[in-house]
Amino acid sequence: MAYQAPIKRVLISEEQINTRVKELAKQISADYAGKKPLLVCILRGASLFFANLVKNMEIDCTIDFMSLSSYQGTASSGKVRMLLDIRDDIKDKDVIIVEDIVDTGLTGVYLKEMLNARKPASVEFCTLLDKPQNRKVEIKPKYLGFSIQNEFVVGYGLDYNELYRNLPYVGVFDETKK
Ligand code: IMP
Repeated sequence: MAYQAPIKRVLISEEQINTRVKELAKQISADYAGKKPLLVCILRGASLFFANLVKNMEIDCTIDFMSLSSYQGTASSGKVRMLLDIRDDIKDKDVIIVEDIVDTGLTGVYLKEMLNARKPASVEFCTLLDKPQNRKVEIKPKYLGFSIQNEFVVGYGLDYNELYRNLPYVGVFDETKK
């Protein structure tokens, strides 16, 4: 039987994502020419986006991983917890935090404050998706794939209770089928 994920519709196709990720990698590569930025993947949601972005980078860069938790089901708990920290010292480094989606902004603000305390040369955000209508705190990602409406989405790394990260596209989750 064909695999059917519980989505109402495909919001962003794999082709659209690939095209946009290439553009973002080009833009970041141009902005950071002559530098060797550290790209930090926020697990697990950014994993697919991160791999795609990194392999399209046109300058030297390093990578690291960080894991945070704040979501339960389709709602943010509002409390961000660190589950895994990056390995190396980021003092004087140009850091780019790579996220799957910025929603309330709480995760981003938590990350920015925590990383800034380690005295990097710079910290910027790159996110595949942005839901600006749902912001609780001010945060504006410098690099943005797609701005979307306030709907719960899954696929391309994004989950509902750890499922559907494997979908090659971003789809609107169908809550009636959960
Ligand atoms: P924020 O702290 O509210 O900005 O939430 C950021 C995190 O919430 C993201 O990294 C996602 O893991 C999760 N999240 C927010 N919206 C969605 C969604 O529509 N689908 C899946 N995960 C989401």
